[in-house]
Amino acid sequence: MTALTTTLVLGGSAGIGLGIARALSTRGGRVYTMARSRRELKPVDESIRYLEGDLTDATSVRAVLQTIRHEAGRLDALVCAAGCAPAGPFESVTDELLDQTFQVNVVGPARAIREALASLRQTRGAVLLIGSTLADHPRPGTALYSASKGALDSLTKALAVELGPSGVRVNCLRPSMVRTELMVRGGMSPEHYSDLLDRRGQAYPLRRVGEVSDLIGMALLLLSPESAWTTGSVIDVDGGHSAAGS
Ligand SMILES: NC(=O)c1ccc[n+]([C@@H]2O[C@H](COP(=O)([O-])OP(=O)(O)OC[C@H]3O[C@@H](n4cnc5c(N)ncnc54)[C@H](OP(=O)(O)O)[C@@H]3O)[C@@H](O)[C@H]2O)c1
Repeated sequence: MTALTTTLVLGGSAGIGLGIARALSTRGGRVYTMARSRRELKPVDESIRYLEGDLTDATSVRAVLQTIRHEAGRLDALVCAAGCAPAGPFESVTDELLDQTFQVNVVGPARAIREALASLRQTRGAVLLIGSTLADHPRPGTALYSASKGALDSLTKALAVELGPSGVRVNCLRPSMVRTELMVRGGMSPEHYSDLLDRRGQAYPLRRVGEVSDLIGMALLLLSPESAWTTGSVIDVDGGHSAAGS
């Protein structure tokens, strides 16, 4: 991947995905994002080409990739940042929530990678998945989310092994708690979320939760040629959360 490349950020209209999309675009990359709405995209983000689509819908994923092939003629990197974060007692998890969580957090990214593979092989491109430290540091109420993110860790390693010979790299960046709208949109009250951010932040060795900007350096590094020999890596960027096991 050279400095001027074409990247698709799935879930790049808000939060972590938007932060990565903006960072790539600012550095001269051609950036496409797919989401169901423009959410936090502003007029100033006009250099990021927004394409509406739902990750859980195979047809819209194919249509977005087809548009990129037609317009840019290449795809150098795929970032999977779309996700949902259900929380609550396991006995209250409905079949619908089970299905939706795995569709958005696992099936969608896996299918998007498969659909993008022919293009990524041509460029010896890179895939970056956004996992979570909750995959192996779960808390009560996170079983469904933790299981879905654990699947991404496995997908990262298995695909790195399978795709390595063709030059396609697959890595996973795992944040702990980062200030975005994810959980409030998932149904948590803003007051509860604010309180949670304070409490969780105090439990991390660096004594604060993350901001989107805290993830950008590692995301760019994993997508860049500086990481040409890095694949199958699951990397925590988490204020020390995993090290503390808290
Ligand atoms: N924030 C945290 O504390 C945290 C911690 C660890 C890991 N993560 C992970 O980081 C990733 C990004 O989270 P975030 O906090 O940045 O969330 P966010 O602020 O809610 O942004 C999520 C993005 O994904 C899009 N999206 C959601 N469902 C989609 C779908 N079905 N199809 C297409 N796009 C979809 C959203 O736009 P639309 O809703 O308009 O489609 C939005 O652009 C997620 O995988 C999350 O699990 C977050």
